[in-house]
Amino acid sequence: MRHFLNTQDWSRPDLDQLLLDASAFKESKLGDQLKGKSIALMFFNPSMRTRTSFELGAFQLGGHAIVLQPGKDAWPIEFDLGTVMDGDTEEHIAEVARVLSRYVDLIGVRAFPKFVDWTVDREDQVLQSIAKYATVPVINMETITHPCQELAHILALQEHFGTRDLRGKKYVLTWTYHPKPLNTAVANSALTIATRMGMDVTLLCPTPEYVLDQRYMDWGAANVAENGGSLNVSHDIESAYAGADVIYAKSWGALPYFGNWGPEKPIRDQYQHFMVDEAKMALTNNGVFSHCLPLRRNVKATDGVMDSPACIAINEAENRLHVQKAIMATLMK
Ligand code: CP
Repeated sequence: MRHFLNTQDWSRPDLDQLLLDASAFKESKLGDQLKGKSIALMFFNPSMRTRTSFELGAFQLGGHAIVLQPGKDAWPIEFDLGTVMDGDTEEHIAEVARVLSRYVDLIGVRAFPKFVDWTVDREDQVLQSIAKYATVPVINMETITHPCQELAHILALQEHFGTRDLRGKKYVLTWTYHPKPLNTAVANSALTIATRMGMDVTLLCPTPEYVLDQRYMDWGAANVAENGGSLNVSHDIESAYAGADVIYAKSWGALPYFGNWGPEKPIRDQYQHFMVDEAKMALTNNGVFSHCLPLRRNVKATDGVMDSPACIAINEAENRLHVQKAIMATLMK
């Protein structure tokens, strides 16, 4: 049995096939690949795009989706083993995952970090526990990576450039400002998939403290070794944007301050000028801009950038529907 927890677990040919299948689903909206099948969508955190696109995608392929929000409309779940469960949790994930597996054919999981201790959060305990106990395929709907977003992003770039081969493109993953320290998931994912596609990738961030977890830097380096391209870190806005083909923006909290965000706030506040604006985009090679959304306008990117023809964030969001249909249909084969 196969899960979709990270793209790094999937071969490049299998990822390429998912992208081809997604394009086919974009052409023909309805299918019967999930006829009589069902998916439980476990949301430990809010969502707009992920929930809508998974529910709709299952429906359009003849399946049924059931949304569960543990701690809200479903029982709060315990994940630690050997715990005396005399606190707030009502049942253990060992039972939850096994019971759900008797009802449904797929399980999707969204579980963000708790933002207290990165050494704990980087183990991705919720996702890994569900994958361990489930006897049906599990899909990562964003935990500490966001692999569905990765495929939607790459499909949008392939559509924009009119080619499946993105090698040679200058790709900038830029940190951008947000008043709160956010999850590194999309940044981890963007770095992973951009290097997997063989692009020349620059991670642009304010200081070395904003470099991503070593696991994802190592994945990026391994991907460069396997697929070509390059991976560099820069703290200089002008040189990073110069000649770029792709600007992908995301905000995230600096990992050395994880769980102790007070001292990070004044550092982050110094870099509000990392917001993507028209002047920066003018430095690019007629570059394209995207973001996973949601996005705070005039904080992360200006109205001018968001409303420009260069912005493909809406295409990327639409592609979530198509790539997730491809993922669900593939896991059901
Ligand atoms: N990009 C994304 O996952 O959006 P939601 O948080 O709205 O699901």
